[in-house]
Amino acid sequence: MRTLTILAAAAAVCIAHAGSMAPALAADPLAQVKERETLMKKLGGGMKAVGGFVKNEGPTAADVQAAAAAITEVSTVDPRTVFPEGTAIGVGDSEAKPELWQNWTTAEGYWNDLKPAAEQLTAAAGSGDRAQVARAMQAVGKVCQTCHEDFRLKK
Ligand code: HEC
Repeated sequence: MRTLTILAAAAAVCIAHAGSMAPALAADPLAQVKERETLMKKLGGGMKAVGGFVKNEGPTAADVQAAAAAITEVSTVDPRTVFPEGTAIGVGDSEAKPELWQNWTTAEGYWNDLKPAAEQLTAAAGSGDRAQVARAMQAVGKVCQTCHEDFRLKK
């Protein structure tokens, strides 16, 4: 609890100074975990829309294009920014296993695999072809799943 209180106090100080900081680089671990979760949710939301299109449940080809663009954008964020040291399980509600940093080259490799997969998805989205989008989505999903299996706490 004591650690949490100290962290919370540090977070408050950082938030107070946030106005003068670069927006993408929150300096305190709690905010960094939150930012990571926001990025991950963006990925999740994108994949959901793509899945909806593949299953013909409403989302349009334009939705797929927007989702692919969002996933591509997230994939270009430096992995050191997404997974800064000191944001493993125990910080806020982080579900990032310490193994992620112990096997950094592997983790970074997974993250870097996202970009080419996301670019394929963008190309497929442009075609509007359901089968092509489905294949590209599967390839992206495999990257997500592989990293989660290794480095995200199972609930
Ligand atoms: C390099 C590893 C890695 C890759 C690649 C990755 N994730 Fe994650 N993801 C994580 C980790 C670690 C967490 C736990 C983060 C935390 O709780 O701070 C997570 C958490 C999440 C969450 C939960 C966020 C929350 O609200 O707590 C979602 C949703 C998610 N990822 C979706 C995706 C999707 C979709 C993809 C692929 C398009 C993806 N992730 C790719 C490592 C990865």
